[in-house]
Amino acid sequence: MTTDDQLVLAETHGRVGLVRFNRPKELNALNAALMEQLVTALEAFDRDPAIGCLVVTGSARAFAAGADIKEMADASAVDMLLRDNIARWDRLRMLKKPLLAAVSGFCLGGGCELALACDLIVASETARFGQPEINLGVMPGAGGTQRLTRAVGKAVAMEMVLNGRALTAAEAVRFGLVNRVAPVESYLDEALALAAEIAARAPLAVRLAKESVNNAFETDLADGLADERRAFYFLFSTADQKEGMAAFLAKRPPQWQGQ
Ligand code: CAA
Repeated sequence: MTTDDQLVLAETHGRVGLVRFNRPKELNALNAALMEQLVTALEAFDRDPAIGCLVVTGSARAFAAGADIKEMADASAVDMLLRDNIARWDRLRMLKKPLLAAVSGFCLGGGCELALACDLIVASETARFGQPEINLGVMPGAGGTQRLTRAVGKAVAMEMVLNGRALTAAEAVRFGLVNRVAPVESYLDEALALAAEIAARAPLAVRLAKESVNNAFETDLADGLADERRAFYFLFSTADQKEGMAAFLAKRPPQWQGQ
């Protein structure tokens, strides 16, 4: 594989696995090859017990400017169905470890949908979140109408999806789309620091807690509460629960085993 083919770059920062988009000339437009490499790199980190949290990022100018328009401009509906590129996104939902998006600059279309598919978002002050598909004669196809609406509510989602309105980072944090905003010089460090804090926690508790919060978007309250309770009780079979509570009572820091 040549460097040109490396559409994402993976690196580790302690217990954090970081994947960077590497299509700067195209503002990290998400073509099929890039998405395949992204998902493959994230799955490798997800399997690695030395990693506790995953981060995906772009550049200061662009997290990602959307799905690759050149790749789909001439496609027929049958082409799109047969390629079914968006099916690949289901693998993101299967990741067991928390996935954090560190977003700066353009975060548009599929880029915004990708950020929304993450569990947490840290944005730079220059980040712009938008679903401009309507300007191309289409609509969001990778979760934009669903996850965006759940994140910001119907009124804001309608304006973004129907009228291509982009949110500033300040608006995004106010509407609950992102966790925190930092200067462009430090947003990635801030994201990595947050990821490192999560990665230092009891891995099985983090895994089940992530699953439980995401379950709130998949199920009704009674089933969600029942699943949460089962997960909570299950954690009492782990060594880390014994350790965490013993450490609290002994007034010492816990030593997690991930068991
Ligand atoms: N796909 C393919 N190429 C893209 C792209 C995209 N989504 N976004 C930008 N590029 C390319 C441009 O074509 C350009 O390439 P050339 O130099 O070869 O012409 C290069 O990246 C730089 O872009 P611009 O010259 O346009 O840069 P700008 O600073 O003037 O504008 C921008 C930046 C406002 C983000 C503009 O590029 C833009 O509007 N991009 C498209 C955004 C968009 O519509 N995204 C939605 C895509 S559809 C989708 O995502 C469907 C889905 O739900 C899955």
